[in-house]
Amino acid sequence: MGDKVTAFAPASIGNVGVGFDMLGLALAGVGDRVSARKTDAPGISVADVRGLDGEPHPYLSTDPDHNTASIAAQALWNDYGDRHGVELKVYKGVPLQSGMGSSAASAVAAAVAANQLLRTPLPTASLLPYALAGEKFASGGLHADNVAPSLMGGMVFCPQVLLPEMVRLPVPNGVSAVLLHPELQVNTAHARRSLARGYSMEQWLEQQAYFGGFVAACASSDIQLISKTLKDVIIEPQRSAAVPCFEAVKEAAERGGALGVSLSGSGPSIFALCKDNVASNLAVAMEQACRGVGIECQSWVSPMDAPGAHVEN
Ligand code: HSE
Repeated sequence: MGDKVTAFAPASIGNVGVGFDMLGLALAGVGDRVSARKTDAPGISVADVRGLDGEPHPYLSTDPDHNTASIAAQALWNDYGDRHGVELKVYKGVPLQSGMGSSAASAVAAAVAANQLLRTPLPTASLLPYALAGEKFASGGLHADNVAPSLMGGMVFCPQVLLPEMVRLPVPNGVSAVLLHPELQVNTAHARRSLARGYSMEQWLEQQAYFGGFVAACASSDIQLISKTLKDVIIEPQRSAAVPCFEAVKEAAERGGALGVSLSGSGPSIFALCKDNVASNLAVAMEQACRGVGIECQSWVSPMDAPGAHVEN
């Protein structure tokens, strides 16, 4: 491997509606890139953070202690790096505070790129704790439901109690994910702090049934069971009011044949799962509903087995 490498890491749908903090799905077609270059000077630095427009990013810091990418690379370098340093350049493709795993994508891409500069790179799955170190800085909690799918691709079960273990789950045949990003921002750390601390036995039993049923339905491509179980009765009701287009977009998606609809991560993005053949129309219907309440938006259609992070050169 040479002394410079670029890695791509996809955006992701945290929680996938049913599995708060423990289930995540990679999204194809949108992600962050990080270039890493070995330097003679020791330490991890961030030379540049640029947005999709190619301009220096207006909000993200190049201070290595305040950037998820450098924090992830530093954690890896602390354990395995040599006397050299690493200079990072971050190219953001995932909108900030979008519920699309923006900070996770940068952290994962940085860990994958820096890993490739090691004499003996670690297996991809072993990078999870390093990417998580970066993600933790941004989101204020230890949850892997964005980092794990961004790293591994597809749908990943990654509850905190099992970390760093995670399980890539089977995805159903013929089902796509549609993600709508309204031009709003939700701060994940704030959104997490305002969640209720206690829940009833009834709520717990109901959500547990949905989670187990959904995972089983995905494994057997049972479309009917997916539509019965892709529900969040605990977190969505507490968060959806912060997303003014949520009800309109959800209704439009359900009318358009969605198997289930919920917030992506802490929002404001909204995702739906649907049969492949209705996905493009569903994306259009969700966009129309969002614009109908006066909010500009963008959408993506992705297979459920989207590839995870990878080196590009
Ligand atoms: N599981 C996290 C949350 C993900 O919902 O707060 C944020 O993308």
